[in-house]
Amino acid sequence: MRDKPTLQEALAHNLRDAEPQEAQALIDTISCIAYACARISEVAGLGVLAGAHGLADSENSQGEAQKKLDVLADELMSQHLEDCGHVAGWASEEHECHLLSRRHARKGGYLVVYDPLDGSSNIEANISIGTIFSVLPHVYQGMLPTDSSYLQPGSEQIAAGYVLYGPATIMVLSCKRGVLMFTLDKRTGQGGQGGEPARWLLTQEDVRIAPHTKEFAINASNQRFWEKPVQRYIAECVAGESGPRMKDFNMRWVASMVAEVHRIMTRGGVFMYPRDTREPRKPGRLRLMYEAAPMAMLVEQAGGRAVNGTHDLLEQVPDTLHQRVPVILGSRDEIDRIVSYHADPHENVSWQLFKTRSLFVQPQA
Ligand code: AHG
Ligand code: MN
Ligand code: MN
Repeated sequence: MRDKPTLQEALAHNLRDAEPQEAQALIDTISCIAYACARISEVAGLGVLAGAHGLADSENSQGEAQKKLDVLADELMSQHLEDCGHVAGWASEEHECHLLSRRHARKGGYLVVYDPLDGSSNIEANISIGTIFSVLPHVYQGMLPTDSSYLQPGSEQIAAGYVLYGPATIMVLSCKRGVLMFTLDKRTGQGGQGGEPARWLLTQEDVRIAPHTKEFAINASNQRFWEKPVQRYIAECVAGESGPRMKDFNMRWVASMVAEVHRIMTRGGVFMYPRDTREPRKPGRLRLMYEAAPMAMLVEQAGGRAVNGTHDLLEQVPDTLHQRVPVILGSRDEIDRIVSYHADPHENVSWQLFKTRSLFVQPQA
């Protein structure tokens, strides 16, 4: 006996205050994305057996080598979005330009932006990977969408979510009414046979991020390129009990943003891919529209905070589809602290000076 609501049942309840036709259009759209992700989960789970490992011999929108699974996941998303009557077009990490729905470009009221496969470097190592998606309004419904139709700040998103392909396949979703978590019941469905897809069941409601944490995630190999406020924050965490924070911190780095954000959803923490000076033309590693903005919405809806260092990521208006941004997100108290370090006019005070003249630690007599 199933005692957990399905995705469609849980969304109908979550959207009960919305206009019924709009609620149904959004449920249908998210169902199409969820179906695509169930298929990606099958292919990823079969690994080499599904021809999902290795390079694809092609490049993505930003000149990065594509993996076979990047391409397969992108195709599955496209196929299922095409089947959805409410989506006018979509844009993906894997294509330079947005794509028009063949049948629904003039009809659909939504645009979808996605990273089909996040954490590509982890595929062959069999480490968790994911998909990130964002549903935006097609403001001029009835007209063909253009690139600029997509350039809306994250605050305009109608829904956002990610799917984590780990030991379990989990979807975390928000329609701006809190955060819901679903688990793919792989005992159901017909495993790629073209029949019923596996069912997503609601496994947690009202997901909340703990405001405090003792855990941070950053790629420490970039330390020499970080700006001063980030150097200061990390130095204080690493100093542990004997530093100004007066508590020990733990560090993690999976190199799949989806897995890092999911850990934060389950037990709090901080994730940073900050601005660095490595390539001055690239202000960050992660992409605003299909990585930073959807994750920012999920994190904020769960009571956390997501910033670029100085400003909330949800307020940032994209210049281009593939724009990169610095990303700092997670437990609210820690993110507030990091923002205050960015605003501190003395941010160029080095850790050693800070240690002796700190507001937190009394100078030694
Ligand atoms: P993608 O696989 O979609 O290109 O994204 C990978 C991203 C993100 O998931 C992760 O946090 C980061 O890149 C890892 O970067 P490093 O390899 O520099 O650690
Ligand atoms: Mn990614
Ligand atoms: Mn990707």
